[in-house]
Amino acid sequence: MSVTVRVPAKVNVQLAVGAARPDGFHDLANVFLAVGLYDEVTVTPADELSVTCEGPDAALVPLDRTNLAARAALILAERRGIEPAVHLHIAKDIPVAGGMAGGSADGAGALLACDALWGTNASREELLDICAELGSDVPFSLVGGAALGTGRGEKLTALDVGGTFHWVFAMAERGLSTPAVFREFDRLTEHADVPEPVASESLLDALAEGDPDALAAAVSNDLQPAALSLFPELADTLAAGRTAGALAALVSGSGPTTAFLARDPRSAAKVAEALRASGTCRSVRVASGPAPGATVVAGN
Ligand code: C5P
Repeated sequence: MSVTVRVPAKVNVQLAVGAARPDGFHDLANVFLAVGLYDEVTVTPADELSVTCEGPDAALVPLDRTNLAARAALILAERRGIEPAVHLHIAKDIPVAGGMAGGSADGAGALLACDALWGTNASREELLDICAELGSDVPFSLVGGAALGTGRGEKLTALDVGGTFHWVFAMAERGLSTPAVFREFDRLTEHADVPEPVASESLLDALAEGDPDALAAAVSNDLQPAALSLFPELADTLAAGRTAGALAALVSGSGPTTAFLARDPRSAAKVAEALRASGTCRSVRVASGPAPGATVVAGN
């Protein structure tokens, strides 16, 4: 018997970052859009907790209890007073350390899979609560679609999306650590007056209308200067995508994956081809959003 859950990647179409809080986190206005690149987490009964991973980036994934999938199983088991006796297998297609919530996806996927396997019947509210304990982006991996995340990003309000948005993603040669990017944001804004983060009305309207030109004009990422400061070569990738006709080019979340909004699938294919030929990235993927959140796809 096993259960498999499929979980999407995300891109942040707006990431407004406030000043560091006393707990070290930052208040955000984080507009998430789930996109159709997926990890699959399969959970199977076993003698003890273990994790394996397959996929192009598998060697970069920690297989110990720091893995968010393992932590999700541990937290749910502890809450129910049962042993976390499962094998977790991650089929990984979301880039690792890329700013696309790959680790968060595995946490949300393992949680939903364990809940189904163990019959623990956690309510949506409890699942979201455990997700928030796992990390700021994990609740969104569970719900998918599009949402505004406030607080440290974990308090979600679902957003209407009036169409499909077409994206190209360029994977970088190396990863970036999210805490390091936030630390760099703090360093760069040390002497600045950092405003309260608020969602852009024009961006929310563009999403609701499904209007790619309006969305392109409204996207923003306050972490982009910090990501570029730590990884200056990303500017070349952004320029290559813009030159190829992308409506917008930005760093996804804390990076270093770069995201390019295209008007339609044909234009996305053209931007992808140009990025591949540019030699400014490791690999290129095309995906559209919104995509559904964590979903059980197989169980037997
Ligand atoms: O919540 P999560 O564990 O994913 O966050 C990883 C790191 O990113 C945190 O330890 C913190 O350094 C940074 N972070 C932050 N403010 C947020 C979310 C994350 O400073 N709102």
